[in-house]
Amino acid sequence: MCGIFAYKGPKTNASELVIKGLKKLEYRGYDSWGVASKCDGEVSIYKEIGKISDFDFDNPPPECDLKRECSLAMGHSRWATHGGVTVENAHPHYSTDKSIAIVHNGIIENYIELRNELKEKGYKFESETDTEVIAQLIQEYKKDNDIVESVKKAIERLEGRYAILVMCADEDKLIAARRGSPLIVGKGEDEFFVASDIPAFLEYTRNVMYLDDDQMVVINDKVEFFDIKSGDKIDKRVVEIDWDVESAEKGDFPHFMIKEISEQKDTIARAINQDDEMIMKIAEEIKSAYGTYIIGCGTAGKVALAGSYLFSKVAERHVNTTFGSEFPSMQNFITDKSLVIAISQSGETADTMEALEIAKKKGAKVLSIINVEGSSMDRISDYSIYIKAGPEKAVASTKATTAQMAILTLLAYACADKLDEGKILLVDTASKINDMLNPRYEEHILKLAKQIKDHESMYVIGKGMNYPMALEAAIKLQEVSYIHAEGFAGGELKHGPIALIHDGVPCIALVSNDETKHEIISNAIEVGSRGGYIIGVSPDNHEVFDYWIKVPDGGNASPIINIIPVQLLAYQLALLRENNPDMPRNLAKSVTVK
Ligand code: F6R
Repeated sequence: MCGIFAYKGPKTNASELVIKGLKKLEYRGYDSWGVASKCDGEVSIYKEIGKISDFDFDNPPPECDLKRECSLAMGHSRWATHGGVTVENAHPHYSTDKSIAIVHNGIIENYIELRNELKEKGYKFESETDTEVIAQLIQEYKKDNDIVESVKKAIERLEGRYAILVMCADEDKLIAARRGSPLIVGKGEDEFFVASDIPAFLEYTRNVMYLDDDQMVVINDKVEFFDIKSGDKIDKRVVEIDWDVESAEKGDFPHFMIKEISEQKDTIARAINQDDEMIMKIAEEIKSAYGTYIIGCGTAGKVALAGSYLFSKVAERHVNTTFGSEFPSMQNFITDKSLVIAISQSGETADTMEALEIAKKKGAKVLSIINVEGSSMDRISDYSIYIKAGPEKAVASTKATTAQMAILTLLAYACADKLDEGKILLVDTASKINDMLNPRYEEHILKLAKQIKDHESMYVIGKGMNYPMALEAAIKLQEVSYIHAEGFAGGELKHGPIALIHDGVPCIALVSNDETKHEIISNAIEVGSRGGYIIGVSPDNHEVFDYWIKVPDGGNASPIINIIPVQLLAYQLALLRENNPDMPRNLAKSVTVK
């Protein structure tokens, strides 16, 4: 949420590099953007509302000064929290005397009292953001301190979560600090990059240094890390990332979303390529824990719920699930014998992260099932399993979802002492997905999308392991098609939601060849009898289906397969309704605010 990118080095087109980097981070926020550059002893700021991808660096508007030569620049693409989408609220923000510029990702909770205090001292505010107080505080402390000390002192006053970058007019330094929001330093040859996410600088370097909470980094011609509280210097390890540049680019695909859906031909097989010993060790932790909680937010929360069905069915084991944001209300059940498992693509989601912090404080063990190595969740966890999906850039999660499901399936089989059986099932699933994802299949789904694209509402039903996938299917449809979509447990319809069904309303039924089949088909018949248009996602056709999307029979891995046609349908609906599937309105990837 909010993209941050900065460059410091010998190149003289720093602003251009920042624009390029921000374009790669646009999935994190796309309502407005801005760049601060240091030229001739001044920090100048240029800001616009709208998407940075619409900005043409070669043909900038006359007032834009980003073509000036400079070797230090930083930028931000915003997902608004405090203050509407205006140029004034876009980052970077100046201090009153324009000597300090700042970009910020996160929320400063005590900004109102800080703002009042600074106003009394004569500071002038130009935006409605919580961020501006940080620039003003730094200006205030700089009266008696050097810039590094001033940033430290300002940070000590902040309550909340932040990743900030600071530049000042009279020094050739870039200063960054974090608490709760991601920031990574990329180390090139005599040059440095700072970004919210690695793909932004992957084309320049794969050598990264992670900034941890309550740490700051000062970059001039070298890089130095400090602990903010003690002021002590920290030796940072340089980690080499194995993602390739292409994996973070669209290539020949029109959108990241369809690229990532298509990559599921390979990602399941990659996800399950894990160290067996480690999987068995984690299975032992699950078996010996006095209560296991699987948590996640949004799609990852639905995967967590799917996990509870998988563990029940495959391993006859009870696990609890809740959303990251609801976990604080469950914390009274957590002890030092509990195990908390976080599901997350980014490893940065604030609500999930807070849940892990609570769990750690209570002495519980923590396992993260994540995509991004080195992320905050990775570093707080006792164990991490990397899902190996490669960079996921579309806001709507697809390949990370199914890879997370594959890992939970593997763990459930490991808990049942049947790891090999689980692996065989998932290898088979990967090859079935490979066969399923072909142009003819996509054409069949496009035909359906054309038929239903103008509906105002649609519903998805599932039972057993398909119930969490019905919820997930609804999220996919909502976020990119903007059609009102809801997922239900099929059996729950008759207790209320069936009142919503009327002539022609599309209802997707996720049907697997398992013990739930007859009941979910009965539920579909109930909807059909009330005029609903039944779309069956199922290995076999049935007379109740008005439209049949055939899926391979995946046994206990069926939920992984069944969600894929709905991902494709959501994508096609987004295109037909002229929405950008990669950048859905009001959303952003990696929700690092609470
Ligand atoms: C929906 C989606 C979100 C994320 C959620 C958690 O398609 O992607 O609901 O699943 O914001 O994000 P991570 O997995 O990064 O913790």
